[in-house]
Amino acid sequence: MSIDRVMLLDEHTANRIAAGEVVERPASAVKELVENALDAGATRIKLQLEEGGRALIRIEDNGCGMSRNDAIMALQRHATSKIRTADDLFALSTLGFRGEALPSIASVSHFSLFTRAEADESGVHLTVHSGEIESIVETAMPCGTVILVEDLFYNTPARMKFLKSTAAELGRSVDIVGQLAVAHPDVSFQVLHRGQDALSTPGNGEALAPLAAVWGRETARKLIPIEFDSGDVTVRGFIATPEITRPGRSHELFFVNGRSIKNRVVSHALEDAFRALTPESRYPVAAIFITVPPNQVDVNVHPTKTEVKFIRDGEVHHAVSQAVKSALLKYGIVPTVQAAVPEIAFSGQTTHTSLPLFGVGHQRSGSMDANIWSQLGVERLEPNATQPKEEVDEPLRMPEAPRPFAELLREYQVLGQLQDTYIIAKTPAGIAVIDQHVAHERVIYERLTVSRNRNGMASQLLNPPVTITLERREALLLAEHTHSFKASGWEVEKFGGDSFVVRAIPASLSNKPYEQMLRDMVDELVNQSVTRRLLVQQDHVLITNACKMAVKAGDPLTIGEMTELLQQLSETENPYLCPHGRPIVVTIGLNDLEKLFKRA
Ligand SMILES: Nc1ncnc2c1ncn2[C@@H]1O[C@H](COP(=O)(O)OP(=O)(O)OP(=O)(O)O)[C@@H](O)[C@H]1O
Ligand SMILES: [Mg+2]
Repeated sequence: MSIDRVMLLDEHTANRIAAGEVVERPASAVKELVENALDAGATRIKLQLEEGGRALIRIEDNGCGMSRNDAIMALQRHATSKIRTADDLFALSTLGFRGEALPSIASVSHFSLFTRAEADESGVHLTVHSGEIESIVETAMPCGTVILVEDLFYNTPARMKFLKSTAAELGRSVDIVGQLAVAHPDVSFQVLHRGQDALSTPGNGEALAPLAAVWGRETARKLIPIEFDSGDVTVRGFIATPEITRPGRSHELFFVNGRSIKNRVVSHALEDAFRALTPESRYPVAAIFITVPPNQVDVNVHPTKTEVKFIRDGEVHHAVSQAVKSALLKYGIVPTVQAAVPEIAFSGQTTHTSLPLFGVGHQRSGSMDANIWSQLGVERLEPNATQPKEEVDEPLRMPEAPRPFAELLREYQVLGQLQDTYIIAKTPAGIAVIDQHVAHERVIYERLTVSRNRNGMASQLLNPPVTITLERREALLLAEHTHSFKASGWEVEKFGGDSFVVRAIPASLSNKPYEQMLRDMVDELVNQSVTRRLLVQQDHVLITNACKMAVKAGDPLTIGEMTELLQQLSETENPYLCPHGRPIVVTIGLNDLEKLFKRA
């Protein structure tokens, strides 16, 4: 006879396993505790950390508190006040819902909880050791909750070993609290480390205040608002103008219904809108708040609740993309060459080191209290330059939208052509260099869009029709997209196997090598990432058409032709970027020229 071997784990072991997923490091405990305080309606949240949170995390909130029974219950696994049934997962209004954070944290630390609900005369103080409640005593305290988490991971040495330096662990906690603070400008947050201020926000309801606290006032001053509504999806928030970029995604903050999240679709939408404006491998600075109906988003993807899935990815992508793009347009963002002249460039004798005379402008943004980082002996990425006191109190104001670029373009005066590729123009503020190909591409693209929207694209029948054979993958994609090709004047029909008959082509292409163009377009479809493919489809065909029809780099142009091109460009809707997202115009300001010539 065989022996039964399958048994239920005891509660403590189950909690330790859950803790493995939920509490990876001090910052994850901090996140759970702060989220609980927010769910409890707190307007003031104070955290004290010792040794980056390893020795102590103390959190105090003025939220609704818990009754004695609730406090005991809260330490059980799967005990929550936030949902009742699985259906509630799709109508969430709280950050927590799994009912496992407190028991998980308590199973890997020395844990004590002080709490008092408004309706109660006194509070209760619970201590937990190794996951078991050790004592419950009545205590006098104001309404709210205080939790102490000491010696985190004392009983899980493997976890302990993976922790980074004190500064790194503190940094993560501060980042997490910063994100929660940005999502809750009406709540005042304070984080102290070894008694020193690591982060504090006023909780005065001003959206920019917590952003100034986490990114520094310099950066906050450069933020521009974004806004877009599309049916169920609303997007609000701030982006920094493209001269401020980051080496990683640390300053891309996304929130869905008040929850800080990571999601590929939304970061793609943001980065794509910025692609042409930020130097290679630099990332934008943005805080983007997305609101969708709770039943349109799945938060229960991962125990840490930071990943979400949207039921309608495409709609969210579109909304974020439009919000960012229209703000960039409205604030007239054109790449500017800034004078970045290293001092030694002109002083030394050795001239063979190639020092950059120009760098597309981007600068480091400010950040949290410099003290705390220097106290830890760490240079944080961007220690806050010491700011004059009066500046600190000055209220943050939104920058005014500058004059539309199209208007400025009309004041450009063409001086000549460089390398048969760039148009050089004099502007009231300096010089502009215009890429003739992309400028023309933009003009043609908009014309094509307009005529397509008006009456579909004019086609020309091919007599006789032409047959082309593609590779398998290409054929599958083209078959899927024949309708989008049709919308821009192509009539392409599947002809068995991987062959297609081309019956008509866009009228505008009649003198061009259209067969090659068709192949190129399909090739581009294949090479696009899945997300992009989803979104461009129709547009893509127009973009490629525009590209093929535009003047090329290397085509000589007369002053008259160039002036005409700039005139046409000024009439486009988006004179900043070519349809592929590359910049059209780069300017060099007089100021920067003066700096370069050391006149300033
Ligand atoms: N600071 C607090 N103030 C008031 N009640 C709290 C506080 N922290 C926790 N609670 C109560 O304890 C319960 C358990 O908290 P816990 O964090 O373990 O689970 P949860 O927040 O419901 O879900 P999740 O595991 O997703 O965080 C909560 O549902 C809430 O009712
Ligand atoms: Mg919780």
